[in-house]
Amino acid sequence: MQVWAVANQKGGVGKTTTVVTLAGLLAQQGARVLVVDLDPHGSLTAYFGQDPDSIAASVYDLFQTQAPPVESLLLATSEAGISLLPASNRMAALERQAVGLAGLGLVVHKALQGLHEQFDYVLLDSPPVLGVTMVNALAACELLLMPVQTEFLAIKGLMRMSNTLGLLLRNRSKPLQAIVVPTMYDRRTKSSVQSLRIIRAEFGERVANAVIPIDTQFRNASAAGQVPSGYNHLARGVQAYDLLLAQLLRKRQQIPHWEDSV
Ligand SMILES: Nc1ncnc2c1ncn2[C@@H]1O[C@H](COP(=O)(O)OP(=O)(O)O)[C@@H](O)[C@H]1O
Ligand SMILES: [Mg+2]
Repeated sequence: MQVWAVANQKGGVGKTTTVVTLAGLLAQQGARVLVVDLDPHGSLTAYFGQDPDSIAASVYDLFQTQAPPVESLLLATSEAGISLLPASNRMAALERQAVGLAGLGLVVHKALQGLHEQFDYVLLDSPPVLGVTMVNALAACELLLMPVQTEFLAIKGLMRMSNTLGLLLRNRSKPLQAIVVPTMYDRRTKSSVQSLRIIRAEFGERVANAVIPIDTQFRNASAAGQVPSGYNHLARGVQAYDLLLAQLLRKRQQIPHWEDSV
């Protein structure tokens, strides 16, 4: 079982879309995939037709004393091969707690230990705030994907995320592979083209080979409640995520450890 997290301290950069699209592509290849919604807003949960405002059992329960077994929190989805560990809006309360409270940072990591037999991949979706659940995501994963929108303001956000990582990684016992994924690229705009150039100059080999283009099919797939590859496998955006996945699966060894490069 491999655990990948998708995180960036900025909202609207394509985190949830990255989780949903990669989950769909992995499931299509026959992998057993668990997607975990660590964002109190619950976009990932809603994507799979569940309501984070009224859900009975969620990631929230893992953080309570006498947490139920993680298996009891898993939901099947309408997509073959994809299970969901949903978010609840009650998780916003967790985010108000101080970062690094003793023991709270490893809750998700520990819960996942019981699922090794059941899943091949676990994809963690994070909120855009550095709080308890993002800390959990970073502690639980072996590979981190950082989607970054190809626009000037987003680059600042990436710098901030990079600094945050530097701080958090001091507490990890294992090295972390991390890759920057440029998203919402529009080659017709100067802002996109120049931003991508800056991202590559700043982050070099830590940037994915694939660049995710802006593609309205993602919104359509979401409205249809389908994973993008199920909605339209030939969409440009899906093809780009397919390339990204090929790099993650076949050239995994070449993805640098973040510690070595900051
Ligand atoms: N490559 C893309 N092209 C066009 N729209 C996209 C793309 N990626 C995501 N979106 C859309 O942008 C919005 C925000 O994306 P989302 O994945 O929810 O971001 P985040 O999880 O980082 O907040 C959603 O409506 C989503 O459908
Ligand atoms: Mg999201």
